[in-house]
Amino acid sequence: MSKIVIEGGYPLCGVIDIQGAKNSILPILAAAYLADGDCVIDNCPDISDTHAAIEILRALGSTVTIHGNTVYINSDYACGFEIPDKLMRKMRSSIMFLGAILGKKKRALVSFPGGCELGPRPIDIHISALSKMGVTIREEFGYLDCECKNIKGTVLDLSFPSVGATENIMLAAVKADGVTVINNAAKEPEIEDLQNFLVKMGGKISGAGSGRIIIQGVPKLTGTRHSVIPDRIVTATYICAVAATGGNALLKKAEASHLGTLLSFLRESGCEINTYDDAIQVSCDSLKGGHTVRTMPFPGFATDAQAVCMAMMCKARGSTVFIETIFESRFKQVGELLRMGAKITTEGRVAVTEGVKKLYGTTVEAGDLRGGASLVVAGLSAEGTTVIDNAEHIYRGYENIEKNLSDLGAKITSEK
Ligand code: EPZ
Repeated sequence: MSKIVIEGGYPLCGVIDIQGAKNSILPILAAAYLADGDCVIDNCPDISDTHAAIEILRALGSTVTIHGNTVYINSDYACGFEIPDKLMRKMRSSIMFLGAILGKKKRALVSFPGGCELGPRPIDIHISALSKMGVTIREEFGYLDCECKNIKGTVLDLSFPSVGATENIMLAAVKADGVTVINNAAKEPEIEDLQNFLVKMGGKISGAGSGRIIIQGVPKLTGTRHSVIPDRIVTATYICAVAATGGNALLKKAEASHLGTLLSFLRESGCEINTYDDAIQVSCDSLKGGHTVRTMPFPGFATDAQAVCMAMMCKARGSTVFIETIFESRFKQVGELLRMGAKITTEGRVAVTEGVKKLYGTTVEAGDLRGGASLVVAGLSAEGTTVIDNAEHIYRGYENIEKNLSDLGAKITSEK
């Protein structure tokens, strides 16, 4: 198992580039399966989730080549409709290939993605929508066996603005017969990025970001070139790391508008943040608590930023209340932060962080992607050395995290 070793206490100062968005590249790679001809994706983050998605495309028969942060995909001779169980288990979000496979093959066989470190991850909204679009779905022996004569456009009212379900529906509807309307659709920036990619391929989609998406099915999608938006959660992570260490840094290629209401929380907590067309400058002398954070669908406070903000607030003056409304158990990092001297109490989906003067380096364990990232933030601001086990969780979503943080002056190494 990989480890990350951090000697804390160094203010992070300097300039780094923000990577492409993990939660954009995954649905976009699935969408590429629908194209006739070559797709070229730029600003693709070099992270293990990207490689897992590429493994799925190759298992379906697509040819995929990678040159740095550019991926070339051709699915003209791909005829697969089954995702092997081991790949489905590798990454829960593989479920978003379902819509694309159905859109291309009218058949799909995938294993039930199951829960993950954030608690149960049901897919009832996905299944209900696809069934209404004419897909027959048999759930047996842990598999979803799906087929349809044709996918039919229809009006869908989502019970929750699920990001993955919205994306799955878009991928199934883009070549369907007729018009699909998604009401109460997710509004995350990654949804807009997927819409932009599909439109470039010849899709007829509008409304992403508004909560109501209209998709007019087309017979054919052709390959195109597209650059993935910056990763807003990686941006939030580095902002928290700079603030927690009292540093001053310029994050290039960052898109401030994708942070939603998180930006006001960061400023109210004492971060000095200047935003530019494609960069964010952040500095911080001292952090102050006294706020209540409620994670919400975009543009609300992103659930994926909860753990790293909690780590930042461990040494703030005063307390911060975190209410996790999106996932059932997303406080895995709390036990590890307590080992570092943090003062946090939790009750169900509520966690209260009371600022302490110091955190102390020790050995901790990453339990999930963003929880692991929160331990990096805490380790950077702690006194002494922090060893983070199970760093594989962190490498799922953070490209070159050790290099980026070293470029900002952190004393950080990895032991693969
Ligand atoms: C996406 O997951 C992201 N993953 C998550 O990021 C992110 O936390 C989440 O959206 C919320 O923003 C990717 O984009 C690859 P949801 P997804 O469907 O699509 C419930 C990270 O750290 N739900 O919006 O799985 C579900 O249980 C990851 O980068 C149902 O009940 O999220 C959860 O409580 C973690 N039934 C809530 O909705 C369904 O059919 C949000 O889920 C689907 C979801």
